[in-house]
Amino acid sequence: MGLGRLRDVEKKDNILAIFIVIVVIIVLPSTILINYLGPFNKNFYYDPNYSDSLGQSLHSASNIPIGVAYSAFHSKYNQKFRNIVAYHFNSLTPENAMKMSFLWPGKDVYSWSEADLIVDFAERINATIHGHTLVWHSQVPQWVYSYSGTTEDWKNLLKTYVQTVVRHYKGRVQSWDVVNEAFEEDGFRDTIWYEKIGPTYIADAFRWVREVDPDAKLYYNDYGLCDDLIKLDYVLDFINSSILDGVPIDGIGFQAHIKYNDPDNATLINAINRVKALDIDLRISELDVRMNDDGNYDTFTYELSQLQKDYIEDFINIVLNYSKTTGITLWGVSDAESWHRMGGNLDWPLLFDESYKPKPAAFGFLNALKNN
Ligand code: G3I
Repeated sequence: MGLGRLRDVEKKDNILAIFIVIVVIIVLPSTILINYLGPFNKNFYYDPNYSDSLGQSLHSASNIPIGVAYSAFHSKYNQKFRNIVAYHFNSLTPENAMKMSFLWPGKDVYSWSEADLIVDFAERINATIHGHTLVWHSQVPQWVYSYSGTTEDWKNLLKTYVQTVVRHYKGRVQSWDVVNEAFEEDGFRDTIWYEKIGPTYIADAFRWVREVDPDAKLYYNDYGLCDDLIKLDYVLDFINSSILDGVPIDGIGFQAHIKYNDPDNATLINAINRVKALDIDLRISELDVRMNDDGNYDTFTYELSQLQKDYIEDFINIVLNYSKTTGITLWGVSDAESWHRMGGNLDWPLLFDESYKPKPAAFGFLNALKNN
């Protein structure tokens, strides 16, 4: 090989070596940084050209907000999660970041960063935010249990918290779960707030929010309301008498952590008719449909996927038949991250599978949205 040729080969090798260096040292790390450092980049990278086998976004098929519980953890390290949230949903509910134990580490100390990131992301994707939840008996910060004071002191403590949070998000959070899970089937749940303030804490909380934010829609949220009509009646009686007393409650949230065919269609229709009788708004606030309550299955069979699809399609059709249904929120994106899998349980309760592909249930959900 002539000297000239040799130099050409050397030049090509040098170019190739420089190219490899650039890719390995600059391109790869920066791609990883963009994706994994999303939480520090307020705009959270996601693929604006994402699409999937559903052929359209879920929210494009509905004139009411179609939402999802937004996990700060999964959003930080999982672009598939962010792609689906940004494409399919136009309402976000922070799964945990707006709960008391996350926002209120000390009596006069508030921690806004994680929740603020979720609100920033929602605004970037033109989604509304449903605040979850101002007053709940779970995820109360430990320091609260060692607080001591009179009933009035406790009232002021809770009022200060509620109004500080609502003031911080005023104009950015369009609706709130003001109080969550305050009832058992036949009476008030014995929570720290019930114990320290008495049953008035529920009405107080709604009034405190309304004093700060005249526009946000205010909901009472609970589980077991679409399948346990005894509990539902007790809650609706309380809501009805509260509204008659001038308490600013706009609607009720059915969490709807249900299993397939429970509630059956007749029970669900019955439950919604009872809400209709009060003429208040209804949100399906935390929808997931368990398929393996008895632990009989170790794989998600085709039969199970079809059962779930048909059940979800019926469920959404019935829910959308009520004119005052104001939103439907899934409690997570993929089966892989469902709270139902905490503690090692195996279930497939959501619309997207472990690889974030739409399941038949997603097609059933979309069919129902398109039919209404
Ligand atoms: O953030 C901490 C982390 O720092 C720590 O290392 C880790 C291990 O202790 O815990 C993390 O907090 C966990 C949190 O989820 C965030 O991942 C809590 O332990 C865990 O209990 C919490 O679970 C949440 C649960 O509410 C709390 O009760 C679930 O994600 C959430 O899906 C679930 O959602 C509730 C609704 O808010 C109300 N309706 C019922 C629904 C299901 O329980």
